[in-house]
Amino acid sequence: MEEKRHAGILAASFVKDGMTVGLGTGSTVYHVIVRLGERVKEGLRIRCVSTSEATTELAESLGLDLIPMSEVLNIDMTIDGADEVDRSCNGIKGGGGALLHEKLVADISRIVVWVVDSSKIVERLGAFPLPIEIVPFFHMQLISKLEGMGFSPRLRMSGSCPFTTDENNYIIDLETGFIEDPEGLHRKLKLMPGVIETGLFITTADIVVVGSKDGAKVLRNTR
Ligand code: MLT
Repeated sequence: MEEKRHAGILAASFVKDGMTVGLGTGSTVYHVIVRLGERVKEGLRIRCVSTSEATTELAESLGLDLIPMSEVLNIDMTIDGADEVDRSCNGIKGGGGALLHEKLVADISRIVVWVVDSSKIVERLGAFPLPIEIVPFFHMQLISKLEGMGFSPRLRMSGSCPFTTDENNYIIDLETGFIEDPEGLHRKLKLMPGVIETGLFITTADIVVVGSKDGAKVLRNTR
């Protein structure tokens, strides 16, 4: 909790007056949004693009100015969380269920900052189950195909119903084991009919802010 807050506060300090800011989704980004709400009350002028209904609700409650994705071609800086990050700044995202919007917002962002607690930094991705967003119509068939490929796919549930994303899709969480080639696996999954997006984010983050008990440190993507 403290680590997430430290990371969130440092990342929020990177936002400058006049920026268009992408707001990710999740428990660490929560602290970023709260701090940005305080900075806006102190006079910071920014426009924000949200990646999920949950983030929209929080940002609106704090008085942040939200604009729809349909009105922006470029975003100055996006701040988002991640479920796992390796030393090359590749990551697994989607634990919060917003991976598709998060990937699209990152795609048009000049700078992508991820905020994580220290437990999220790993040598190799894959301990965290890999979320993939899929077409509901084809979920049974995809589960069967993914089983055949040696993964252990699980349809994400919300109570007794499948969890649905903000785009009304389903999510399958895949037990992949350690991922030798994140980009190769991403490409392989994306080529499967019915797979809309994967939670593998390949060298997406320019900066990763890692919270610790006493503060936060910054890792830079040197690619
Ligand atoms: C995600 O990528 O799903 C979340 O943003 C990770 C988080 O909870 O911080």
